[in-house]
Amino acid sequence: MYPYRDGLTALSGSPVKAAVAGLSETDRALLDTVDHVVDLGCGNGAPAAALVPVLPTTCRWLLVEKDEGQLVAARSRLRSMTSQRVDGVCADLTRLPFERLPSGPGLILISHVLYYLPGWQDVLSWLVQKARSSGSALVVVMRSRQSASYQLRACIRTAQGGSEDGMLTAESVQSWLKSHDVPYSAVASAAAVSYDLTGIRMDDPDMVPRACDRHASLYSMLSLLCHTDPAGLDPGPAAALTNVIRRMVHRNRLDLLLDDLILVVSPSSREVPCRTLT
Ligand SMILES: C[S@@+](CC[C@H](N)C(=O)[O-])C[C@H]1O[C@@H](n2cnc3c(N)ncnc32)[C@H](O)[C@@H]1O
Repeated sequence: MYPYRDGLTALSGSPVKAAVAGLSETDRALLDTVDHVVDLGCGNGAPAAALVPVLPTTCRWLLVEKDEGQLVAARSRLRSMTSQRVDGVCADLTRLPFERLPSGPGLILISHVLYYLPGWQDVLSWLVQKARSSGSALVVVMRSRQSASYQLRACIRTAQGGSEDGMLTAESVQSWLKSHDVPYSAVASAAAVSYDLTGIRMDDPDMVPRACDRHASLYSMLSLLCHTDPAGLDPGPAAALTNVIRRMVHRNRLDLLLDDLILVVSPSSREVPCRTLT
């Protein structure tokens, strides 16, 4: 079973809505001509579902996911929202080329997936080329270096003897796009989830499990942001994680910053200053 499933339901599709809101006028006009969406690593389908109301009602959908359970959930979610064709393909995105992309101008969405693909540069390069040759827009959603996710992953990684170098963030993808002369637009979308920890002592070595006992969604949220099961860590990384989480608590509230960057490569994209949507 994919370990991040519960966390996914805790998140909304808002980064995708932010991406649409942040598109330039020309890009927004392009949305009116989109006749299909390909959602790569669609998870439970929440980001694709957020797009349904803003795209033409004639739009067809192709959902790609390696986890069959997630794919089934995503497909039924989309089918309940549109009478158009919704196809689902269970596939591993590390196996390129992925031959099932429809032709013609569409929207290719890859939201919070590149971290899991060791050869992400090859995947991105292939997607950019596919978007260009078909006149499609490519929307990449990633957590930024400022996010709680980065801090949590970095502390686990260093406590395990690794380094922060090579940890994939939205900024890594931006650098790659710049160094490959791929124009893009960037939109920042900041949100936070907050948990009340009143009465939980910060010096309690079990403060994280206690906080998770109190808030049903916190454990799955931490699993999602850490990219691993926080309960399955060795003592050293577990202690490092607890320390970082303690530092995120202010006035008895644990605030986890979900700081996304949405990078849009489209036929009309040009580099524009990044602006924050609230
Ligand atoms: C963090 S979730 C993001 C889900 C969704 N796109 C969203 O933004 O809410 C990552 C998703 O990528 C999928 N995934 C990870 N590696 C994959 C691969 N190699 N091929 C296909 N899907 C993959 C996972 O199964 C999971 O559903």
